[in-house]
Amino acid sequence: MSWKPSSWRDFPIKQQPVYPDKELLKSVEEELASYPPLIFAGEARNLKAELAQVAQGKAFLLQGGDCAESFSNFNARSIKNLFKLMLQMNMVLMYSFGKPIVKVGRIAGQFAKPRSSDFEEIDGVSLPSYRGDIINDIEFNSQARVPNPTKMLKAYNQSAATMNLIRAFARGGMADLTQVHQWNLDFIKDHDLGKKYEELSRKIDDAMRFMRACGLDVKNLPQLQQTVLYTSHEALLLNYEEALTKKDSLTGDWYDCSAHMLWIGDRTRGLNDAHIEYFRGIQNPIGCKVGPTMQEDELIKLIDALNPNNEPGRLNLIVRMGASKIGEYFPKLLKKVKEEGRNIVWSCDPMHGNVEKASNGFKTRDFKNILSEVKQFFEIHNAEGTIAGGIHLEMTGEDVTECIGSQSCAITQEGLASRYHTQCDPRLNAKQALELAFMISDTLQGALR
Ligand code: PEP
Ligand code: CO
Repeated sequence: MSWKPSSWRDFPIKQQPVYPDKELLKSVEEELASYPPLIFAGEARNLKAELAQVAQGKAFLLQGGDCAESFSNFNARSIKNLFKLMLQMNMVLMYSFGKPIVKVGRIAGQFAKPRSSDFEEIDGVSLPSYRGDIINDIEFNSQARVPNPTKMLKAYNQSAATMNLIRAFARGGMADLTQVHQWNLDFIKDHDLGKKYEELSRKIDDAMRFMRACGLDVKNLPQLQQTVLYTSHEALLLNYEEALTKKDSLTGDWYDCSAHMLWIGDRTRGLNDAHIEYFRGIQNPIGCKVGPTMQEDELIKLIDALNPNNEPGRLNLIVRMGASKIGEYFPKLLKKVKEEGRNIVWSCDPMHGNVEKASNGFKTRDFKNILSEVKQFFEIHNAEGTIAGGIHLEMTGEDVTECIGSQSCAITQEGLASRYHTQCDPRLNAKQALELAFMISDTLQGALR
């Protein structure tokens, strides 16, 4: 079957904006296509190889970041805090599992959002829904909600600048293992969690001292000074993704050069739809969300459409059922995929099946449901003898109040209003995310050893 970056245009498509100015759209697409790629295909191949290790249980995937990045909250501090939080979680997990952690940010391109409704109604006024800063504006007025293609150019530029800073942090000394103490975020430091992290940092100091005593020059080992944070986003807006799809000069294969890894959302994974058509042609590692409505046969067809050669590391299935549903719907899918011998990187998104509305109207998630879904995900894999490969989180390095519960900050429904900053879904704050990492390392590591 022939494929080209634009062949998705001949298929039915969901969750897309209707741009009023088609001429402008075309000129933006052409301009974007002339821009340099944000990643190099070789990096996407490296990630695929690392994910193949995850599928075999030799590494663990930690994927996380904003539900939606925004143009207005674009600054060095929030990128740095997310980076530091990822490093802290990385340490907690790596130390207890004794395996490398593959770090993938929902960052540098996570701008387009699928919505449960095409319209939003406030006080009897109905307007088109906000679809992410790459498409329209969040303000509730009719002008703001008109899709504007030039926002794709701004998203590209913000992604490039974000990527530049991530690469600088990863290579320039921020990830140096002699700096583990510095990753503790200010608002966590004096808290029990911060102290628990300090204890771990001291153990790492000891390990480094021991290696020095063995004669290893730890200052000159790049593995101890540098890291890699890969980028990822939901490739929802295919006009943007097509424009950044390039043929790799080394292999002649097509890659979506907007991020290292892309995923398909739970609302756009229809087997005969445009997103599957687009994804089957790109050679990046890819993800697909799996919600409670997925059927066993449908899943096998989906896997075969996206990964016909059963290539290890190519396909990450991101399970997002909800704490009350995963026990009923996930085991039969897992069994079927195991029986059919398909190579899958299984990860758990404990966020998107656990959204609820607080009594004061805020969209929130209860930390205890998030924990419960992660635990069940590990237990189901244990029972089946398969590999729980990773977690996929909506989180921020900032001290926000968006998800309720947790021991570390005990946010109540009333407390949500204090620092509720998300553009879209509620994120774990840094304490909650670190607490989750400690919970996994303290109680679930046995499953992973
Ligand atoms: C998301 O990851 O932000 C998202 C919308 O997820 P899902 O497609 O699983 O609902
Ligand atoms: Co979300």
